[in-house]
Amino acid sequence: GGAGHLVGQLAAAPVQLPLLPGKPATTFWAYNGQIPGPAIVAWEGDEVRLQFTNQLSQPSTIHWHGMPVPAEQDGNPHDPVLPGQQRTYHFELAAGSAASYWYHPHPHGHTAQQAYMGLAGVFVVKSRHDPLAHLPEQWLVLSDLKLDAQGQIAANSAADQHDGREGQFVLVNGGWQPVIALAEGERQRWRIWNASSARILKLALPAHEVDLVGTDGGLIAVPRRIDTLLLSPGERAEIVITGRFAAGKASALQALPYQRGKAMGKEQGDILTLATIKRSGSKATAELPATLRPIAALGAPAVKRVVNFSENMADPSAMFLINGKKFDMNRVDFSGKVGQVEEWDIVSQAHMDHPFHIHGTQFQVLARTDDGVWQDEAFLAWRDVVNIPAGETVRLRFVQQRPGLRMFHCHILEHEDAGMMATLDVR
Ligand code: C2O
Ligand code: CU
Ligand code: CU
Repeated sequence: GGAGHLVGQLAAAPVQLPLLPGKPATTFWAYNGQIPGPAIVAWEGDEVRLQFTNQLSQPSTIHWHGMPVPAEQDGNPHDPVLPGQQRTYHFELAAGSAASYWYHPHPHGHTAQQAYMGLAGVFVVKSRHDPLAHLPEQWLVLSDLKLDAQGQIAANSAADQHDGREGQFVLVNGGWQPVIALAEGERQRWRIWNASSARILKLALPAHEVDLVGTDGGLIAVPRRIDTLLLSPGERAEIVITGRFAAGKASALQALPYQRGKAMGKEQGDILTLATIKRSGSKATAELPATLRPIAALGAPAVKRVVNFSENMADPSAMFLINGKKFDMNRVDFSGKVGQVEEWDIVSQAHMDHPFHIHGTQFQVLARTDDGVWQDEAFLAWRDVVNIPAGETVRLRFVQQRPGLRMFHCHILEHEDAGMMATLDVR
């Protein structure tokens, strides 16, 4: 069929939402008054035009996280939309780009605050040849809410600036502990977004069968049965859950304790219940295809680079560094070429985990160290975020298909704002 058009408008503005009974309404910053922002759905091949109006008192941008859009349409901090101003983002969705993306602000120095105030939404690109199109879907956007004693969104503390912000509540689609209906034997396709600033989620669904079917960049080659799913900030996954209401096992989406670095002391927290899953009868089990889509390994690299993540606790003005430097908007850190295979080793010399993200493309993880010992990656997948555990190295390959300036950074948004970000100029 012919390409379609998607036209829409997104306005970022303060909004008051009643949250706690008997308390004044809470002020959020939201796209079109919604938390999370409106879900955008388009098809491969579509031409997209989205008009953005900034009704905040700070500069903002919209970044199309993970999407293969031209650099000048990608909401770089270099292209701010000033308070009271508008711009239109315009791009086409290439064949093969079907995946679960999201959008969020990316202005210089204000990304964390604008995101935790509520500015984020999902963007799903669909394919007309989707082997899982027969399954019912649930979309789960996981985010953190941190309130102060007045029931307003708390500012970042010094600890938040350092460790990354975590709230008292982990929300699902803006609500707390929703109930999801699932039948015995029913298969559902869940798309899950970790839209929190800093929380690394080790997800589990103890009672049910879970197969991983997709990552940031869309479907993987074959379903993989999993027990837990580690999703770092910015990362997405698609799973197929099959209802198995076994007695004695929690029928819930849980976040298990996860130790996110040597500096972070104990394993964090208890088991959190993010959503409960309620049985709604029985259903015939829909088929889960044996293969999903082919993924070809990227070829030998034309360039190899090393990206070092480090922390300098002695200097509060330059604490989180890439290759020893703090982000500078006017500096180009690496120069690359359109179509060239790049191989990057992301080396952590840090005491906490930092999730690596790059704009404009998807990468393949080849190998990673575990306690310093190299392990080949178990399966091929397209990703745009990968957690770099404290002290470990992850090796990945990618190709940038378009010219322009691309950011890469830690997706703990407090660290990104603090300067743990750098640029790749693609010519
Ligand atoms: Cu979702 Cu540069 O980030
Ligand atoms: Cu991004
Ligand atoms: Cu970080």
